[in-house]
Amino acid sequence: MCGIVGYIGKREASPILLEGLKRLEYRGYDSAGVAVLADGALKLKKYKGRVTDLARNLNTASLSGSLGISHTRWATHGAVTEANAHPHVSHDGKISLVHNGVIENYLAVKKFLESTGVEFYSETDSEVFCNLIAYHYKKEAEDSPTRFLDSVRRSLRHIDGTYGIAVISTDCPDELVGARKGSPLIVGIGKDEYLLASDVSAIISRTSNVVYLNDGEIVSLKDGELNLLTNDEEILTPEIKQIDWDIAESELGDYEHFMLKEIFEQSGALENAMRGRFSDDKSSAKFGGLNVSAQELRQIDRILLCACGTAWHACLVGEYLIERYARIPVEVEYASEFRYRNAPLDKNTLVIVISQSGETIDTLAALRESKRKGYKTLAINNSVGSTIARESDGGIYQHAGPEIGVASTKAFTSQLHILSMLALYLGRLRDMSFQEGREYVEALKKAPALVTETVKLSGKILEISKKYKDMEDCLFLGRQDMFPIALEGALKLKEISYIHAEGYPAAEMKHGPIALINEKCPVIVIAAQPDIHAKLLSNIQEVKARGAPVIAVTNESNPLPENLVDDQILIPDCHRALLPVIASIPMQLLSYHIANLRGCDVDKPRNLAKSVTVE
Ligand code: F6R
Repeated sequence: MCGIVGYIGKREASPILLEGLKRLEYRGYDSAGVAVLADGALKLKKYKGRVTDLARNLNTASLSGSLGISHTRWATHGAVTEANAHPHVSHDGKISLVHNGVIENYLAVKKFLESTGVEFYSETDSEVFCNLIAYHYKKEAEDSPTRFLDSVRRSLRHIDGTYGIAVISTDCPDELVGARKGSPLIVGIGKDEYLLASDVSAIISRTSNVVYLNDGEIVSLKDGELNLLTNDEEILTPEIKQIDWDIAESELGDYEHFMLKEIFEQSGALENAMRGRFSDDKSSAKFGGLNVSAQELRQIDRILLCACGTAWHACLVGEYLIERYARIPVEVEYASEFRYRNAPLDKNTLVIVISQSGETIDTLAALRESKRKGYKTLAINNSVGSTIARESDGGIYQHAGPEIGVASTKAFTSQLHILSMLALYLGRLRDMSFQEGREYVEALKKAPALVTETVKLSGKILEISKKYKDMEDCLFLGRQDMFPIALEGALKLKEISYIHAEGYPAAEMKHGPIALINEKCPVIVIAAQPDIHAKLLSNIQEVKARGAPVIAVTNESNPLPENLVDDQILIPDCHRALLPVIASIPMQLLSYHIANLRGCDVDKPRNLAKSVTVE
């Protein structure tokens, strides 16, 4: 949700800010802007549109200066207009700010500032924030060396809501100030330069040394020094962390889209998820960072899996896997519902949150609520150093590499694979036999090769996509753990192609959705479980009887009768624990090709942004 990049150093700021914004654009892409300070003057350029449009319309020479801030927006308050784009500038022209998050009491603050004569030019809460800083700046002693920093700190006391901000002042040409509450912010430490960003991807080309800000912290970058303090003025010692990203991983290479690249990277992502994570006797999994002993895990009576969106679908699959292999009861909650539901949980409940970005605000809030209530919490997460990773009691890193396409693909299958490994680990702590564990490990190890084989279906799926690209409605059906895969297939298709799609348990169709079925509503059926094949065949018959085209996804060894299906995608046979991963791939490829054939912007679908850091 929105991206921030700030720079202070010895080089020209604007090209560095623009490069950072380009890498951050997947966070939000409705408008963008840059403000640079030079010789006490603020130079500003905003643009309604993509970062590339801003770059095209911006003459970096006219924005010369070595201190600046920039932003790529995903609209929350106010329409997509140039006036609402960031950076915002205070009415007196002294303060400029970029902001991620939502200020909940902005109307009250705005009213107060208006009573002091401030005029507003945009509809945003961020402009209010900017003017509040200007208000406090005016009140601070003019000769105070910390005047600017103090004015930001004082403003924060009057702000309710969430923020990650970067601020500059025309009076302080050597100072960049940042602050965080509920919206990520990091400082990159380069050679003779500092960067402020909402995401490591923005700064990775310049440095791999970073300081992650915690909620309630402010940073001042001034005269080559980094000063970190709390809102209550307690001075902190910054903890410098090393990012182990390879810059090439966040580049497109020969692929047309990040989504396609990430679909094809899934084999490697699964390898990474497994690396060093099997027991010496190869009968179980092991995880370095759980911070929960085997003894404690044996005491667990219930597991709560909590997440949003695609990660929530991974939780639904996790429920099947953990209950089937470890025999522990599992509940799945939308993070956004859990935090307000006040559900009574058994005291021996383990809470596991799943989040690719590690910054999704609802998932973070669910994690915090669980901790507040005293539950042990774990996170399955793809972003080292993210807030969720830092705040959970322990967890499992996915190591899937950066996911840039807004529609999650490799992060999802890597979450599924980790959940399979977790089910194995928990199962071996309970009733799963040594022999069963050995077979399970052998099966898991085959996953990367099976994925490599499955992505080769891309060409065939492209041909099928050509037939269905103009549909406006469709249903995805599956049973057991293929039901969440049907939900995920429907989500993937709707978010990138804007086709109305719904996922249903195949047998539930008769209880309502069957009314939608006609020749214009294709039905995608995942019929890959040999044990319930016959049941799925009758569901397909019900669809066919109503004239809908059927696309079936089934196993190579178990094809469906040709007269029953219009198109058939045969996936390799695999161990039952791997099926959710393998069956997901045709869903991803179908969505990708259909969206691409419809001319949609696959990596940056309308209204969406990667990482939802607002409620
Ligand atoms: C859909 C998608 C989203 C995310 C959701 C949670 O393709 O990517 O539904 O899964 O916003 O994001 P994370 O996993 O970062 O918490």
